[in-house]
Amino acid sequence: MEFEIVTGSVESLETDCLIVGVSSDGELAPSADLINKASAGYLKDLLTDHQGKCGEALLLHKVPGISAKRVLLMGLGKADERSDRNQLKIIKSVMSNVKAIRCKSIVIALDGLESADQDLYRQLRHNTEWASAELYQYDATKSKKADAISLESIGFLLSHDNAELGEFSISDGSAIANGIDTARELGNLPGNICTPTYLAEKALKLAQECEELTTTILDEDEMEKLGMHSLLSVGKGSAEASKLIVMEYKGGEPDQHPHVLVGKGITFDTGGISLKPGAKMDEMKFDMCGAASVMGAMEALTQLGLDLNVVGIIASAENMPSGNATKPGDIVTTMSGQTVEILNTDAEGRLVLCDALTYAERFEPETVVDVATLTGACIVALGNHATGLLSTDDLLADDLLAAGEFAADKAWRLPLWDEYQEQLDSNFADIANIGGPAAGTVTAACFLSRFTKKYRWAHLDIAGVAWNSNGKAKGATGRCVPLLCQHLIAQVDDLTEE
Ligand code: BES
Ligand code: MN
Ligand code: ZN
Repeated sequence: MEFEIVTGSVESLETDCLIVGVSSDGELAPSADLINKASAGYLKDLLTDHQGKCGEALLLHKVPGISAKRVLLMGLGKADERSDRNQLKIIKSVMSNVKAIRCKSIVIALDGLESADQDLYRQLRHNTEWASAELYQYDATKSKKADAISLESIGFLLSHDNAELGEFSISDGSAIANGIDTARELGNLPGNICTPTYLAEKALKLAQECEELTTTILDEDEMEKLGMHSLLSVGKGSAEASKLIVMEYKGGEPDQHPHVLVGKGITFDTGGISLKPGAKMDEMKFDMCGAASVMGAMEALTQLGLDLNVVGIIASAENMPSGNATKPGDIVTTMSGQTVEILNTDAEGRLVLCDALTYAERFEPETVVDVATLTGACIVALGNHATGLLSTDDLLADDLLAAGEFAADKAWRLPLWDEYQEQLDSNFADIANIGGPAAGTVTAACFLSRFTKKYRWAHLDIAGVAWNSNGKAKGATGRCVPLLCQHLIAQVDDLTEE
C-alpha cells in the first residue's frame, strides 16, 4: 500500500473517495466545512441522516462543486471524547467502507481530530498502522486465495506547514505496519510450517535484504558447546531442530552498545510430558509470537533506518512429549552455570529464554528486553488488553510504559520484588522452573531475573495480547511490534538530545 501526504484545496482533490468528518454535536470538521461550502450546503442538509457517532459512515456520490468522485462522511463522536480507541474505530470504519466500494485511491481529511495531547506525528502514524492492519488477510494455507484488494493508495490531507512532519510520520508508520504484518503472518502460520528452521530462514532472508543486518544461526551442536542445556532440554522430545537466531542491526557507531531484544520462539507448545489439555491446544502455535514480534521489530527497524545498534535474539524450539523428552524432575545446567530442576515441562519458555539471556551478555548491551507468551497467569491478571511488564530497572520500565502509551500498544507493570523469589527454591537444584500457583507471571519473571544480573533488563509477557481467540478475529495481532519500535525510536531521540 502506498501512503502519501496530500496538500492543496480539499474541493479540487482528484480521488475515488474523500473522507471528511462530522462530530456528534453536528459540527463539521474544517475539511468537511469546506466541502459543505463548495457544494452550497449539501453536507449540512444531510446531517439529519447522520448522527456523527464515532465510526458512523455515510457514503455520498456526486457531491456538487467538488472533484472527488465520492465523499465518505465519517462520524467522529463527541469533541470531548477523542481517544486512541475511538480513532481506531474511525479508521476501521473508513477501511471497511472503502474496501466495500472497491476504490483505488482514497484521501483521508480527518482534520479537527487533533486534541491537545495528540501530536500530529503520533496520530498520523497510528492512522497509517491501523489502516494498513485492516488490509492484512491471511491466505498462505488456503487453496482459494483472498480477493486482491483494489485500494492502491491512501492519502492524508495536510496543510503545507505540516506536510514534512506528515511524510516522516507515514514513513515510520508504514515501516512499523510492515513489521506488524510480518509478526502476524509468522504467528498465524501453523506449527508444521513455522518451525524453528523456518524462523531461522526468515531471519536469514531479512538480512539478505538489508545491508546493516547480519543474521547468524546457532544449531544444536553449537548451543551444546556453549552449554545451553536448558534451551536444548525443551526441544529434546521434538523431531524439529532447535535454533538460536541472532540478528545484528548496525545502524549506530561501531562502539555504541546495542539494545537487545530477545523473543520466545516456541513454534508449538504441547506442554511436553506435562502435557496440556486438548481444548484450544491449536492456539499454542502462537507460542512463538514473542519471536515474531522481535522479527517484526527488526524488519521495521531496517525500514526505519534508525542510527542505532540493535540485536534481536530468538530462542526457538518445539515442545513435544516423546521417549527422548525432558521429564518432570530432570535437572539441567544452564549456560550461566546455574542448575534448574524442571518440575513442569510446560514452563518451557523460561527455559529457552534463560540461555538466550545469558548469551546476550556478550553484546555488552545498553538494555535487554525480552518478549514472550510466557504465562497463562498474565491473562488472568491483565486480560487481553495490556502486555505484562516486569523489570528490576525503574527507568527502563518507565521508558517501556511510555513507549507502549505512545504507540497505543499498552503495557502494565507488575511487581518483581525479592519476596517472590523464594517460591523458586528447589531441594535438588539451584532453582526450580515453577513457583506454584500464586503470582505465576511474577515468578516466571523472577526465574528470568536470575539470568539478567549483568545488564539493564525488562520482560514483556504478551500471553494475553499476542493473538485473538474468537471467531473471525482469531489470529495473531502483531503486538508488541509497535511498543518495541517506539522503544527503539525513543532511544535515538535520547541520543540526539544528549
Ligand atoms: N505458552 C504457555 C503460556 C500460555 C498459555 C500463553 C496459554 C497463552 C495462553 C507457557 O509455556 C505455559 O505453558 N505456561 C504455564 C506455566 C506453568 C506450568 C507454571 C502456564 O501458564 O500454565
Ligand atoms: Mn508451556
Ligand atoms: Zn509456552
